[in-house]
Amino acid sequence: MSDLQISVVGAGLMGHGIAQVFVQAGHLVRVYDPNYTALETFRERIERNLSDLGQDTSPAQRAYPVENLAECVAGADVVFEAGPEDLAFKQKLFLQLELMAPPHAILASNTSVIPITAIMRDMTTGNRALGTHWWNPPYLVPLVEVIKTPQTDPRRAQEMFDLLVAVGKTPAMVEKDVPGFIGNRLQHALWREAVALVADGVCDARTVDTVVKASFGRRLPVLGPLENADLVGIDLTLAIHQTVLPDINSTPGPSPYLAQLIAEGRLGMKTGHGFMRWTSEEASSLRRRVLDHLKAMSAEEDTGSRAAGRG
Ligand SMILES: NC(=O)c1ccc[n+]([C@@H]2O[C@H](COP(=O)([O-])OP(=O)(O)OC[C@H]3O[C@@H](n4cnc5c(N)ncnc54)[C@H](O)[C@@H]3O)[C@@H](O)[C@H]2O)c1
Repeated sequence: MSDLQISVVGAGLMGHGIAQVFVQAGHLVRVYDPNYTALETFRERIERNLSDLGQDTSPAQRAYPVENLAECVAGADVVFEAGPEDLAFKQKLFLQLELMAPPHAILASNTSVIPITAIMRDMTTGNRALGTHWWNPPYLVPLVEVIKTPQTDPRRAQEMFDLLVAVGKTPAMVEKDVPGFIGNRLQHALWREAVALVADGVCDARTVDTVVKASFGRRLPVLGPLENADLVGIDLTLAIHQTVLPDINSTPGPSPYLAQLIAEGRLGMKTGHGFMRWTSEEASSLRRRVLDHLKAMSAEEDTGSRAAGRG
């Protein structure tokens, strides 16, 4: 498996992290980005991440910057696109990739929410094209959603799934290409209600987050929502839904409350005020806590898999 050539197009936040996962697993990775600074610095960024994790930084040397797209993907077995979130850009790029990459290469987009079918619409070899939705930071968050379009050959999707397992990720197969795939649909269903609770004056923003973090958020790493439904019983789940669902926000489209905050200059941490007020120290401290938490969970999983003889 380690003799695969992986190509990553776009060396930003996600691209360098995806490259890191594959070099850590022993693969050679070629990286292209038209932005000179992004291309020049991605290896250092991988080294910094590894060093921050207390790990050997030498795998970063298996990632090579390439200044030309065609050269980057010429010998690829798998291409991950992690460029700007723009439909027209991605459509054009995949038309180039299908001509430039070898015919056997799997071509994957890391779009956050754009339907993969729309990105791959004009390709003639759409059978080898699919979505791989990584989560930030790619080297610490286990999940990668593998999204099939109606054209995707299920065997190519399975190959991608197996490759992701082999490099230590937790892939999830998304059988139907729906906007937001699985993770972002679930996440934003929760955010919609969170915004509505504040907009409707039920509680303030900090209280919403306290309720999530101090209750079901505690259980989520070990108890998914449908495991939870089975645990409490489908009959109780039905009874709860009969009472609560008619009252839960189901407005299509974003809440007007968000537009109101934006009009007031409340854009979040970047303006010091969003749902809550933030000093730059508080914002940095939260970012650090998130990273430390993800690192601790990842270290715990590594220890667990070594103890189980899988590491
Ligand atoms: N940031 C996240 O949390 C996250 C999570 C999942 C998916 N995504 C998606 O991943 C993709 C990349 O996001 P990001 O956060 O890494 O963005 P980013 O802005 O950090 O990186 C994008 C990179 O693409 C490069 N680029 C610009 N034009 C290009 C071109 N013509 N060819 C190749 N590269 C080009 C830019 O120079 C930049 O380095 C987007 O589609 C985004 O929606 C992001």
